[in-house]
Parts: sequence; C-alpha cells; structure tokens
Amino acid sequence: MFGARCLLRALRSCTSAPCPRHKPSARLSVRDALGARSTNGERVKVQGWIRSVRSQKEVLFLHINDGSSLESLQVVADSSFDSRELAFGSSVEVQGQLVKSPSKKQNVELKAEKIEIVGNCDAKAFPLKYKERHPLEYLRQYPHLRCRTNALGSILRIRSEATAAIHSFFKDSGFVHIHTPIITSNDCEGAGELFQVEPSSKIKVPEENFFNVPAFLTVSGQLHLEVMSGAFTQVFTFGPTFRAENSQSRRHLAEFYMVEAEISFVESLQDLMQVMEGLFKTATMMVLSNCTEDVELCHKFIAPGQKDRLEHMLKNNFLIISYTEAVEILKQASQNFTFTPEWGVDLHTEHEKYLVKHCGNIPVFVINYPLALKPFYMRDNEDGCCCDLLVPGVGELFGGSLREERYHFLEQRLARSGLTEAYQWYLDLRRFGSVPHGGFGMGFERYLQCILGIDNIKDVSLFQDLLIRVL
Ligand code: 4AD
Ligand code: MG
Repeated sequence: MFGARCLLRALRSCTSAPCPRHKPSARLSVRDALGARSTNGERVKVQGWIRSVRSQKEVLFLHINDGSSLESLQVVADSSFDSRELAFGSSVEVQGQLVKSPSKKQNVELKAEKIEIVGNCDAKAFPLKYKERHPLEYLRQYPHLRCRTNALGSILRIRSEATAAIHSFFKDSGFVHIHTPIITSNDCEGAGELFQVEPSSKIKVPEENFFNVPAFLTVSGQLHLEVMSGAFTQVFTFGPTFRAENSQSRRHLAEFYMVEAEISFVESLQDLMQVMEGLFKTATMMVLSNCTEDVELCHKFIAPGQKDRLEHMLKNNFLIISYTEAVEILKQASQNFTFTPEWGVDLHTEHEKYLVKHCGNIPVFVINYPLALKPFYMRDNEDGCCCDLLVPGVGELFGGSLREERYHFLEQRLARSGLTEAYQWYLDLRRFGSVPHGGFGMGFERYLQCILGIDNIKDVSLFQDLLIRVL
C-alpha cells in the first residue's frame, strides 16, 4: 500500500506536469462533492478520513469525512480494493467518478477508481471507536483527536460560523473592529484575577519588570475600546481573554473569548440593552440558517429539547428586572440556596439560574446592581448604570454598563482606590472631548453553551483549559 511520501510524489506529478492522456482530477471537498448538481461522470479527487468501512462480497463501501460537513461522502469501490489499511480513522485520497447514488440516503456517491492510503490508523490504539457515540466527557481526555468526531465537528463548525455571524452583525451595524492588546498593565475589572506576564527566568532583565511596569494577560479589552470609541464612535473587539479563576466549573475557563462593544453618545442603558439583544438574536438566526445540520445534531443528541427552548428565547422580548426585585424574588423562593440571597451581595450562579427559570426561561436583564458591587468605571446614574443578561442554563452571559464620563466623579473614584496615577490616561479621555458612552462584554463560549444547550463550557472550547489539556 502507498505511504505518505508516495502520495506526495503522485500529487506533484499531477499538478506540475499533467499527464497528456488523463486530465487531472478536480479536487473537491466532501461538502462540494455532496452538493454537486451535475454528476456527468467527471473524475474528481476527494481527500479525508475514513469514518466507516463496510465490506460486501463484491463491493466495498467507505464513508469519507474531511470536516467540511457533518455528512460524509459514500465511496463505492470494487472489493479488490479491500485491505486492512482501509480502516476507521485512516486518511485517504480517492479518485473516481461522482455519480448519482441509487440509494435514498444520499444524492451522490463516488465510484472509486483509485484509493491511496495517506496515513494509516492503528484502530486498536485509536481512542475513537467505530460506530460508538462517545460521551463528551470521555472525549475531553483527547483534545487533540476529539475534533474528528461528529459531535465536536458540529460544535466547532458552529463556533466558526458564530464567529463570522458576530463580525457580520457589527459590520452591518457600522462598528469598527479593534484589535485590543493581549498584554496590558491594567486590571480592567479590578478583581485581581490576573495572570502576570514576565520572561522566563532564563532571560535576564535589568529592571524588576520586563515592561518596566507589572504586565498581565488582558481580563477585558474595555478600557482600550473606550479609547477607540472616542474616535470611531462604535467599536468592537472579539479576542482571547484570561482570568485566573476556578476553571473547574462548568461555565468558567482561564482562557476564553470575549465579544466586547463600546458605543459613544449612548443616552441610556436601554440603548445598550437593545444592541445586546440584537446581537444575540441576529447572530443566532444566522447560525441557525447557515449550520442547520450541525445545530440539529446538537439539539437532537446532545441537548434534546433545546430547539424549542432556543425558539422560545428568540421569539420573546428579553425581560428586565432590577437588582432589588431580583433579590426579593430570591428571598421568596421555595428553593434552598447554598448562598443565602442578600441585598448588597453579588448574585451567584444558582441565583442567576433560578431567576431565569422564574422569568419563564426568557433571557432577563438584571439592572442597577449596587455601585459597590461593580468596577470603578461604572457610571453613578440615577436611571440605571449597569446590566447583566442572564440566560437559561448558563446564568450571566453579558455584562454591560454606562461608563463614568464625568471627570470629577471618576477622579474621586480612582483616588479612593489609589489608582489616579496609573489611570491618568483614562482620566484624559474625560478631559478631552468626553461623551456619554457605554458598552458590554459577552462570553463567547457561554453564548455557544446557551444556544446549543451544552452543559460544560469545556465542550465548546477548542482546546479546553491547560489544566486538562496535554498540548
Ligand atoms: O462581566 P465581565 O467580567 O465584564 C467585563 O469584563 C466588562 N469589562 C465587559 C465590557 O463591558 N466590555 O465579563 C463579560 C462576560 C461575562 O458576562 C461572561 O459571559 C464572560 O464574559 N466571562 C467568562 N466566560 C468564561 N470563563 C470565564 N472565566 C469568564 N469570565 C467572564
Ligand atoms: Mg460580570
């Protein structure tokens, strides 16, 4: 059987000097092959990994998947092709004719003329087994291989599509995309959940800190976005964010992606909440229409009933309750909480989940938390300063607020926390053409959990957390 080197030689001869008698086969992705309109017998080449092998007396059926779609392409070959190396997990290149399939299960199939093994797969040692639907928990042990399963394939294609949908929502709404720094000296949230960045001990640094000041991985791009909203009015960022938090929970990661927006000249919290609801609904509708089969797999096999729950979220207007009302609801709840709800204390996940249920499983904005519970940048506003959006199954998905744009108020706030010197540049923004503004952040993995109904955040992240992964 052919090895990888052999294939390379074959490819080179195919691309650089086409054989005069045989036109080189057009390379098609599985998705394009499955969607081919005409099957006029043209020779094509498909590359991918074997998902199933079925050997009959005279024919051999293979299913090939290359990650371009949930569905695999059926390859029909003469039984003389049968070999032990044509095994589940092996990578192959198949050339042949795309023909109409006699079976109702698929429109087209590939009639193989040539099958090359690109890489063998030792089926015994391979942790993924043919025909088994492995639980997500089992797959977490194999972050380097789990993307080859149907479940993770679908989740990660949806993740890619959702990323594009979020970018397109902001682009269509006139926002400018900003790359905010990953290494920064600020602790935007003031919660001290920072990872410090220093060179490894092998590199000698004359100063105490490499950057002259202590530097950290970003916990939020908000402050940098505020700079940019002072020039571009509406800006957003969508990038990796880091928190030294307990990442063993089902909704926390040490490294996650956050979508953040900042808008100048906003008049009220209502303006911001409208953008948040618009982002959630528009992006989700786009994902639903562009990834129908992948979403269906999640809603059918991973989270039965989630389709209806999501429709319920999309067709209803999101609700609004105040923090004070929320605490009252919790105090009157028949349920016993691990943390007793009390005014002036932050809400815990168990409280957030209860509140969403109490609101009929419609996403709910909790507004006007006491200022003391929120970071220094929050505006001290009579009509409401901040909101968290709570969603079914997850709890807090968005955090947003109006920012303190008044110089003296902010100066006093910073002085009380001993931050005046470090945040002189931030105060400058209030000295030179300050405007009322506000923004929000949405945890991207929590968003995916929410729309797909996935219980553990590690199952929607690409490589989970370093605590678990081996690479
Ligand atoms: O509520 P947070 O901390 O808000 C901010 O960082 C603001 N500066 C955002 C802004 O206004 N520009 O974080 C925003 C969201 C949370 O609501 C949550 O969905 C997500 O980020 N999040 C996490 N997701 C996964 N793992 C973690 N450890 C997370 N911490 C926050
Ligand atoms: Mg928050």
